[in-house]
Amino acid sequence: MPVSSRTTAVPAPADGDHGTHPADRPAPPPAGALETARRDYARLVGQGLSLDLTRGKPSAAQLALSDPLLALPGEGGHLDEDGTDVRNYGGQRGLPALRRIFAEVLRVPAEQLIAAGNSSLALMHDCLAHALLSGIPGGTRRWADEERLVFLCPVPGYDRHFALCERFGITMRPVPMTPEGPDMDVVERLVAEDPAVKGIWCVPTYSNPDGTCYSEETVRRLAAMPAAAGDFRVLWDNAYAVHHLTDEPVRTPDLLAACAASGHPDRALVFGSTSKVTFAGAGVAFFGSSPANVDWLLAHNGERSIGPDKVNQLRHARFLRDAEGLRAHMERHRALLEPKFATVLRVLDEELSGTGLAGWTRPRGGYFVTLHAPEGCARETVRRAAEAGIALTPAGLTHPYGEDPRDSVIRIAPTCLETDELEQAVRGLAVCLRLAAYERHAGHAAQGRGEGPA
Ligand SMILES: Cc1ncc(COP(=O)(O)O)c(C=O)c1O
Repeated sequence: MPVSSRTTAVPAPADGDHGTHPADRPAPPPAGALETARRDYARLVGQGLSLDLTRGKPSAAQLALSDPLLALPGEGGHLDEDGTDVRNYGGQRGLPALRRIFAEVLRVPAEQLIAAGNSSLALMHDCLAHALLSGIPGGTRRWADEERLVFLCPVPGYDRHFALCERFGITMRPVPMTPEGPDMDVVERLVAEDPAVKGIWCVPTYSNPDGTCYSEETVRRLAAMPAAAGDFRVLWDNAYAVHHLTDEPVRTPDLLAACAASGHPDRALVFGSTSKVTFAGAGVAFFGSSPANVDWLLAHNGERSIGPDKVNQLRHARFLRDAEGLRAHMERHRALLEPKFATVLRVLDEELSGTGLAGWTRPRGGYFVTLHAPEGCARETVRRAAEAGIALTPAGLTHPYGEDPRDSVIRIAPTCLETDELEQAVRGLAVCLRLAAYERHAGHAAQGRGEGPA
């Protein structure tokens, strides 16, 4: 049976297994299934496809929604509402008009929100680099002087968070996801007992890749839990805060306020950007936190740059206008994206439901559908798909060190293909999954009979 609740985060076997996925106990294949899968696969390879389901990028049609930006602010339009000349140096906090628009959705008071350059990932990188080289409020020494540094990584998660940890020598500790966010029993225990645990990565709304939305209770516990490290941080990467796909938009719980109310005002570092709102390469990134953390980042980034690109910020403020303008713009994205997600889900239903082989998420927002192959089959499925001309994110990338212990998670990024191509790609993917699963089963059966691997 496929997993078919709204967003179905499937627990991973890290620090305690909280459930098994149906795909881990596939029923024996029906008679002739392997032969059929082999025939289907040969036909698929014969089609000579060249389709890409890898990175979650906006499509050209989505980018075109923001094309008016290319003409803004326009010649002579270089003063913001306060008379600041955006062409010149300065204004480290970013333009107030733009910060006000995003304060509401990121749930950070505008005066504690910085509008910066074009990439929130770069801000995360900066925070880690500054903590390593200079320390962070609440700490007794620089992170570089600590014997061990550990970050908790809810899995499946975002590969670029993991890459930052690897880059900076931070040990990653996987934590299983639940439908409400990371397993907080595990998180609370690890954070309380080990002073080397300095952080946790969180994508609280429509998480990458499994679409999980953190519950109010998860957020309350993240804010309130005791931490052995005085400078423990929650890296709150709200990349998909406004990327709804339904009529019931999920509102991110207010971590910053919860931390302040629990006596841990400096715990939350909030990130966001317009990368998937306007232009992915030419948007604006945001950082929000306590006044102490904001001053800390401004002081260090002030050495790195004399100020952000305020021209870009001004054109964003003029284009989006206000929170209502942002909402209306995101509805236009939704109109383009919803049919694509619906296509992926329909094809998965048609191809795999009732096979007992796979489960998949039904995200209410964000950029991905997560497919759970039978244990031990994700890499082989992705390899077969590549051979057939369907590019997928490498299996394992959704886990620290590229190691999915079940070899089960496959991330599907539906945004960039047209719906007809998407249909072909996902149908082909299902063929590859069936083949990988039935071949593995046949191999096991042969081993069971003492015949060695098939
Ligand atoms: C969870 C998450 N955070 C951050 C980013 C990158 O954000 P930015 O373009 O602002 O660096 C992405 C892009 O895919 C993402 O999925």
